[in-house]
Amino acid sequence: MNRRNTLAALLASALLAAGGGAHAQAKLKVGVMLPFTGTYAALGTAIDNGFKLYVQEQGGKLGGREIEYVVVDDESDPAKATDNVNKLINRDKVDVVVGTVHSGVAMAMAKVARDSNTLLMVPNAGADAVTGPMCAQNIFRSSFSNWQPGFAMGKVAAERKHKTAVTITWKYAAGAESVGGFKEAFEKGGGKVLNDLTVPFPNVEFQALLTEIAALKPDIVYAFFAGGGAVKFVKDYAAAGLNKSIPLYGPGFLTDGTLEAQGDAAQGMLTTLHYADSLNTPRDDAFRLAYVKAYKMQPDVYAVQGYDAAQMLAIGLKAVKGDLGKRAEFAAAIEKATIDSPRGPFKISKAHNPVQDIYLRKVDGKQNKAVGVAIKALADPARGCRM
Ligand code: PHB
Repeated sequence: MNRRNTLAALLASALLAAGGGAHAQAKLKVGVMLPFTGTYAALGTAIDNGFKLYVQEQGGKLGGREIEYVVVDDESDPAKATDNVNKLINRDKVDVVVGTVHSGVAMAMAKVARDSNTLLMVPNAGADAVTGPMCAQNIFRSSFSNWQPGFAMGKVAAERKHKTAVTITWKYAAGAESVGGFKEAFEKGGGKVLNDLTVPFPNVEFQALLTEIAALKPDIVYAFFAGGGAVKFVKDYAAAGLNKSIPLYGPGFLTDGTLEAQGDAAQGMLTTLHYADSLNTPRDDAFRLAYVKAYKMQPDVYAVQGYDAAQMLAIGLKAVKGDLGKRAEFAAAIEKATIDSPRGPFKISKAHNPVQDIYLRKVDGKQNKAVGVAIKALADPARGCRM
């Protein structure tokens, strides 16, 4: 060997010794695909914040690998979803995709993830299909299925002896599935849904439908809206005076991260969700303190889901020592883990969806206060999942 080759060989072995192999040294590229504009913009930001908070708490590394982000605004537009996720995978060569909020966008992402065997962590979108017919070894959800909070609220409404309901939502998968869960439990408990009203996503022209609700005179209304749309709906409902005579129920998205803007209009509302603002556990208190310190704002359910998506990724990466080629070991580690979530510890189902307590919450000032547990350890039925 000449002098130059000897030096190169020495350098290579020094690098190997320091880093434990080239693989452990490469940065892990995380493709973050979330809405940063439109009615779900605040939700995307909270998820992004939560995810990055957990990574920061680990010193910027998961499974020994430094994390690098490629961020895309998906605009909650299903028509752009396939292109957006393909760019992350083929052009940016990300190792894992984290996203998104909107169920229609998430279903397009899940299809691409399945076909290309790309690792996908879903930190919100509840599309039942993602952990139903589209379930896969490489797809995980840290949030909920749309069916879960809906089903819990249907049970609560029937137990409270309400007999008739009208449902109202945006006309897309999330709304339809949330209403589906509600109806299943409400009718099982003896209730009857008189009418299902919809507006196109993301419209917020509610007047005509509020007039229809007033004419139908149901005992209660069940509504699925979120983000900017939830703010507008709850305020319009109160401005029409309907909250005085017809209680407004919904999944917790109706009042989560929105109470500053909703003010008096939301006071006293009951909702069901896998998180609440007043859990007062050491785990949640520590999370909330760290979040407020980092972002100068209160966390909400979306921040928790982002944080937990990072926790799940960390559990899998640790088990495979940063080597994402080991898919079966990666999945097995998350499947047997108990995730130490601010919402309370949870496990995932065989279909990779959280099995979790659904709290009954009541709006009190700027908080969604837990007033009880509507259903303990609720698992999505995962209809159509073969795994
Ligand atoms: C959804 O599209 O699945 C979705 C969006 C916003 C939420 C909940 C679910 O708050």
